Amino acid sequence: MSQNTVTRAVVIGHGHYLPERVVENEAFTQTLDTSDEWIKSRSGIERRHFAAEGEMTSHLAIKAARAALETAGVGADTLDAIIVATSTPDLTFPSVATMVQDGIDAGGAFAFDVQAVCAGFVYALGNASALIAAGQARRVMVIGAETFSRIMDWTDRSTCVLFGDGAGAIILDAQPGNGTSDDRGVLSVDLHSDGKLRDLLYVDGGVGTTGTAGYLRMQGNQVFRHAVEKLADTANTALSRAGLGAGDVDWVVPHQANIRIIQGTAKKLGLSMDNVIVTVQDHGNTSAASIPLALSVGAADGRIKKGDLIVTEAIGGGLAWGAVVLRW
Ligand code: ACO
Repeated sequence: MSQNTVTRAVVIGHGHYLPERVVENEAFTQTLDTSDEWIKSRSGIERRHFAAEGEMTSHLAIKAARAALETAGVGADTLDAIIVATSTPDLTFPSVATMVQDGIDAGGAFAFDVQAVCAGFVYALGNASALIAAGQARRVMVIGAETFSRIMDWTDRSTCVLFGDGAGAIILDAQPGNGTSDDRGVLSVDLHSDGKLRDLLYVDGGVGTTGTAGYLRMQGNQVFRHAVEKLADTANTALSRAGLGAGDVDWVVPHQANIRIIQGTAKKLGLSMDNVIVTVQDHGNTSAASIPLALSVGAADGRIKKGDLIVTEAIGGGLAWGAVVLRW
């Protein structure tokens, strides 16, 4: 293979932000017929962060963005694009991404949101990589940021104990690769949707219906049924598209919805939980923010190292799902 034949989207920075308020499982027992034991054993979640009153998705995203710029050691004025994956924007429009652009003073970046619920980050990452490969942008910030606490029905114990708020960000840089799986950067992307399954997980409000934000509704056990199979399939497809197999993976960085889904998927991939970054116990399900949060936590504590092969995978409302393989 000749040298420098492709342009790869290589991660050069990472950062995250979690709101200050931490809510332990026990807190829900004051208003709901639930228990720490039920939540922990069914989901793996022990606590989650909730945004303060007046603290919005853009505020979390801006803090994660600043942290990513800091680890990358680059200025916001060097960004060509900002993509925010979110389903809980501050406003119907403008996008959270444009608020981030202003908040970090990235005047040269075009900015837009991607909405694919819990799969939002893998969708955004796939799109960012495509922009870079096509030569439309050289440096792209990709953020996952959510305030799912704003769309919780606090009387519905089957959903409100599962979600949390937070934001994670990475910065991708165009760098030459030789076109092999030894390259650093995004190596392959696999994305899917099935709108026939939209009733399994949705929000019961919106611009064209109630005129309100609405509340999250989920047939959890049905989503669960689809999750393990679809996540393992998409991860395997993305790996084989990159000419790799599960044995090459250093880290699975999955969407953090439920520890049993994470374990089931790892098992189906033939990987040990020692190869999986797990944050669900501390963050709950932060939807599109969960993967960049886990990437940032894993990189900050030294587990994820330069050159490691990572597979990210996620599924969420739509249904929408997918996987991205990248070398850190
Ligand atoms: N405390 C106590 N009992 C509860 C609670 C609670 N918080 N919530 C539900 N229960 C009860 C139910 O009412 C039910 O009782 P019943 O048998 O008397 O009717 C029982 O527990 C079992 O309910 P299930 O829903 O079958 O429980 P399950 O083992 O499937 O776990 C869970 C539920 C945790 C929601 C699981 O199904 C799950 O994680 N699903 C996937 C969620 C997911 O991955 N979502 C995708 C991403 S999210 C996104 O895109 C926004």
